[in-house]
Amino acid sequence: REREREREREREMLFLPRMALPSLLVLYGSQTGTAQDTAQRIGRQAQRKHIQNRVAPLDGYNVAHLISESLVIFVCSTTGQGDPPDNMKNFWRFLFRKSLPAGSLCQLDCAVLGLGDSSYPKFNFVAKKLHKRLQQLGASLLSSVGLADDQHDLGADAVIDPWLLSVTVPSFPRFCRLPPRYTFHFLEGVGETSGDTERNSKEQRVPSESHPFPARMTSNQRVSHPSHFQEVRLIEFDISDSNIEFTAGDVVSMRPCNNPEDVEQFCQQLRLDPDSQFILKANDSTAGTHSPAGLPEPCSLRHLVEGYLGVAAVPRRSFFETLQCFSTNELEKEKLAEFSSAEGQDELHAYCSRPRRTALEVLCDFPHTTAELKVDYLLDLFPPIQPRSFSIASSPLAHPGKLQILVAVVGYKTQIQKPRRGLCSTWLSSLDPSQGEVRVPLWVKKGTLRFPADQDIPVIMVGPGTGVAPFRSALQERIAQGKAANVLFFGCRSQFKDFYFSAEWRDRVEEGQLKLFTAFSRDQEDKIYVQHRVKEQSKLLWDLIANRNAYFYIAGAAKDMPASVCDALKATFQLEGGLSLEESDQMLVAMEKAGRFQSETWS
Ligand code: 2AM
Repeated sequence: REREREREREREMLFLPRMALPSLLVLYGSQTGTAQDTAQRIGRQAQRKHIQNRVAPLDGYNVAHLISESLVIFVCSTTGQGDPPDNMKNFWRFLFRKSLPAGSLCQLDCAVLGLGDSSYPKFNFVAKKLHKRLQQLGASLLSSVGLADDQHDLGADAVIDPWLLSVTVPSFPRFCRLPPRYTFHFLEGVGETSGDTERNSKEQRVPSESHPFPARMTSNQRVSHPSHFQEVRLIEFDISDSNIEFTAGDVVSMRPCNNPEDVEQFCQQLRLDPDSQFILKANDSTAGTHSPAGLPEPCSLRHLVEGYLGVAAVPRRSFFETLQCFSTNELEKEKLAEFSSAEGQDELHAYCSRPRRTALEVLCDFPHTTAELKVDYLLDLFPPIQPRSFSIASSPLAHPGKLQILVAVVGYKTQIQKPRRGLCSTWLSSLDPSQGEVRVPLWVKKGTLRFPADQDIPVIMVGPGTGVAPFRSALQERIAQGKAANVLFFGCRSQFKDFYFSAEWRDRVEEGQLKLFTAFSRDQEDKIYVQHRVKEQSKLLWDLIANRNAYFYIAGAAKDMPASVCDALKATFQLEGGLSLEESDQMLVAMEKAGRFQSETWS
């Protein structure tokens, strides 16, 4: 028992009082706002790790205080001729005063991140010069100067993110366990609450992420043939009392729930009683970072785990950092420390991201650490469940008061034995409105696809598989408005297995409202894809695009399809319009600029 108490005391020592932590100061010099944005992002990242921080423009900061700072990250861009941005000019003059003694910043740990553009000759000149000067003044530089480049193929973040990981802070107790942001106050003898608060359903506001509308599911039917390898479902919601408005191209978002088996398993592993009821008390001002908005009071642990904690998501590095603080088991702690370190990121990727291992599965791999987790830390450890979005597949002009989506139930294999399943699509497929009322909190956002308002402009839409969803919405809308020049290319594996909405298309074709071209890839020996049909219709397409100002759309699961369709389109320009390869490229770019070529792809 004495040893146990000793261990408990050791563990308590890990709770460093918040004030004992060095605080981070992020200072920026920004001309167009990019450096400012980056500085603020660094501040937010620190916030998530409970690191006290301030973010300020260099000229808004009293430089005389620099000698008493412990940790500063400078984020500076370089303007035109290698000059510092306007909001750091005073600082710049001060820093290069000859009278500053050589060791005046010897207590300072700092790092310099430059934002620049390598197509200019004085690339990141300001950051490089600042780095040198700080060294001269005796500061400890925690990393080499970061040289973010606008010309980088993957954008400036491709440099910024790894650079941030490279900043190692010796004076920082990196993995100390902080007090949790929330405390759980458990209640005794309170009956089960439903957790379904149906808040604001009668209010007059437009539903949003923070105030979703609890829409009633009115149907959930499989639209792919039962023998087809993939389950695809058309799901309808009643939104008639909601203030939700949408047009073709918009998307609907929702937060899925974790499945009941995962919830049970999670509670078992953490030795929690899922039926226990609690009320949350926020501990300090940092609590707001991912506050569990809309949590009922009181709430059951089951409801919290099911609807709020991202236990089925692939965990990030910060998860391992937090987990490490709980570990007293040598082997587990060592492994967790490795996954938390900058050098361990490749291994973490191989362990977690590549096989899509979930947080819950990670907990199973670290049983000793898991057994030591305290309930108060649940909200620090698990990010909230992320919302998922779907293209809306219906138009209110054809289905008033309703909203429909087309959902492919995602399932795939990785090196992990148990097959992976998409959280949201699996959850949606499990909901059965014929067995009792089902409500799904949702909200609608503007999508990226826009359709022309002009009555006379034709649209050409290429949407294989579930990519057809936004085009069904557009067709319903356009046909209801009497816009007749509609062309749809649809592709699927088989006319009899996954040709969604075939009866609906047939009617539209018979009415003369739609020209439909289908590509059934597996109904014959050779693969036939939508891009082949596009090529076959070169005369029609050239006429619509060149003479009638048609808009061209692609939607669907990414991979090679969009690129192949673009190639087919450009081949059409060459064949029918007599354009060169280069001219056809230019024509597509011009169409895209004018909003006449749009695509929405997902994987
Ligand atoms: P496949 O599965 O027989 O290869 C909807 O998923 C349709 O898109 C299916 O018929 C599928 O065919 C087809 N598809 C797969 N890859 C494609 C690609 N690169 N280009 C166009 N269509 C593709």
